[in-house]
Order: sequence, then structure tokens, then C-alpha cells
Amino acid sequence: MTASITPSLGSPHARILSVGVRRPSRIVPNSEIVDRIDSSDEWIRERSGIVERRWAEPDESVVDLAVAAGREALSKSGIAADQIGLVMVATVTHPFQTPSAAAEVAFQLGASRAGAVDLGAACAGFCYGLAMANDLIRGGSAQYVLLVGVEKLTDWINPDDRGTAFLFADAAGAVVVGPSDVPAIGPVVWGADGSQADAICMTQSLIDYRDNGGPIFPTLVMQGQQVFRWAVGEMSKIALEALEVAGVAADDLDAFIPHQANMRITDAMVRAIKLPSHVPVARDIAFSGNTSAASVPLAMERMLESGEAPHGGTALLIGFGAGLVFAAQVVTLP
Ligand code: UT7
Repeated sequence: MTASITPSLGSPHARILSVGVRRPSRIVPNSEIVDRIDSSDEWIRERSGIVERRWAEPDESVVDLAVAAGREALSKSGIAADQIGLVMVATVTHPFQTPSAAAEVAFQLGASRAGAVDLGAACAGFCYGLAMANDLIRGGSAQYVLLVGVEKLTDWINPDDRGTAFLFADAAGAVVVGPSDVPAIGPVVWGADGSQADAICMTQSLIDYRDNGGPIFPTLVMQGQQVFRWAVGEMSKIALEALEVAGVAADDLDAFIPHQANMRITDAMVRAIKLPSHVPVARDIAFSGNTSAASVPLAMERMLESGEAPHGGTALLIGFGAGLVFAAQVVTLP
């Protein structure tokens, strides 16, 4: 006879309780980058909207950034570290195959009863993680989840590459997700298009680098225009679908927080989804650059701290990037 197994039972709903960030202290203006890539402050501002970005110090690791953001999110949530059931770290720049960044982050934060796992979905990593945290809490596998989006992209870009050197940067953003009596994280709309795997990828694998004697350490490369066209054309449809499945009208949004890929992509999406002009739009890229998995929580924190978006308001999130992968959902802001 098959044994009967007690099912895990969770909360009816889940919500984001708090958001914390770590913005590295070193501010890098365009002027510091332009000579090496034969560019100009005007070109970078006009083509990407970036005015400055933050770079971590050489000795400030992905784990350090994640711990700092996680600590702030925990403290704002009022949840003790040992109440966290799972630490999830969305990143593509942790420089070790194993162990995970998450295990170290959990240990340093004192999340002694938490499972820990890294999640690789590039610039969509935070929105992927949020969808999973929502289901883990509703399914009963965790009561509270600490989700961190973190990148130290400066370790993985070629400072001489005109297509990426000015764009990518370093930061961490974290949220505590916990139980809720009312729905506060809408259904996720997600997907992947592996046929465009070469649109954002590495110059070579670490194994090829080892076996071929270099010569150049693997770095990120991007077919900028290809990704730009895909983001504007396809991601606007995904954003609209996330609104539809959540049953929320664009008019009822209090914030639109897309992945901070490029200000022109954001502007084009705003036009494509016909976002009403009263809905504030995240534009953190101007001061943070493109921080991949960290960009959505980072932009969320800036909007909340500046008062641009209200606590408890309704926001549309969308992440998209290397894979190519994407994920979007409507949430109640912490
Ligand atoms: O986060 C993951 C997802 N990533 C994205 O969503 C990024 C998507 N792509 C982009 O944001 C844009 O493609 C970039 C910002 C990366 C580049 O902007 P672009 O408008 O697509 O530039 P482009 O590559 O089409 O180049 C336009 C011109 C070219 O000159 P000509 O041929 O028109 O004379 C380039 O040589 O700009 C030139 N150029 C530059 N000039 C100054 C390219 N890179 C630079 C540069 N500085 N860094």
C-alpha cells in the first residue's frame, strides 16, 4: 500500500514585505569611461540614459553586496533571520561554480534554518525568483523567503568593449516575501527563447579559456540592436499580458518598474503599452546603470524612498535578458 504523505500547507497568498539595497559607494561618471571606448558623455546619455553608475571595489564581492542588501531588507521587514525558510540569490556574476552565493549569504545573515539556492535567469532573475517565492509560500515550503538580485558585472565585462562597458554596473537589491491574507503578487508571465542564446553571452567558456591558453578572460558580449528590438517588440506584449492575467488596468497602476536595460527601451515600452501619463516610471538606470538581476528591486527602492511610488501601491514589474528569458508580474509594493 502506498503510504499517505502529509502535504505542505502554505498561506493563501504572499506579498513583498520590504526592500533593501546595496549601492556601491564608488560613483563612476561617463567621463571616467569614455576615453577607453572612444565614446562621449552625450552619446551615452542619449543612447542609454545613463549619467553615472556604481562600481563595487575590487574586494567587495557578490556575496558582500547581497548580504548588505539582505540585511537591510530583513531589518525593514521586522522578520528575524531565523524565520527565513529559503534564501534565493538571483545572479550571473558570482565567480564560483560552487558553493552557491546563497549558502554563504544565509550563513552571514544568520538565516540558520533556511535552505539556500542560486538562480540564473540574468536580468529576469529577480522576477523569476519572485514568482517562485510566491508559490513556495503559498505551497508551504517556506513561510518567509529572502530574495536577492545581485550582480558585480564589472568582473565580467571588457572595459574596452564599446557595446557593454558603459552599460553594465554593480549593485544588490533584496526583498523579504511572506504570507498575506490578500493577493499581492499576480500570476507570472514568463518564458524563454533559447534560439537567441547568442544575443547576450560569454566570449568563451572557462574551460575553453583554460584549454586554449586564454588569451582573453571570458567576458559578456551583447548584440545590442538585436536585444533592443526584441525588448521593445516582444516585452511590451508580455507586460500587457501580465496586467491582463492579474486583472489590473494600466490606469490603476501606481508604478511601472521595468528592468533598467536602457532608458530608450523603457520609453518605447511606455509608448507601446500606452501607459497613462499619471503612472510614474522607474528611471533608476540614469544613476545605477544596468545592474541585471539587481535592477528591478533597486529601482523599486528608489521610487519608494523618493516618494515617487506609494507604499502599498500597485506596480507592474518586468525583467528580461540573456537566455533570452523574461518574466513579468503585477505586485503590491511593500
Ligand atoms: O540587460 C539585458 C538586456 N540588454 C539590453 O536590453 C540592452 C539593449 N541594447 C541597447 O541598450 C543598445 O543597443 C546599446 C545602448 C547597447 C547601444 O545603442 P545602439 O543605439 O543600439 O547603438 P549601435 O550599436 O546601433 O551603434 C550606433 C552607432 C554606431 O555608429 P554608426 O555606425 O552609426 O556610425 C556605433 O559605432 O553608435 C556607435 N557606437 C558608439 N559610439 C559611441 C556604438 N557604441 C558606441 C559607444 N560610444 N559606446
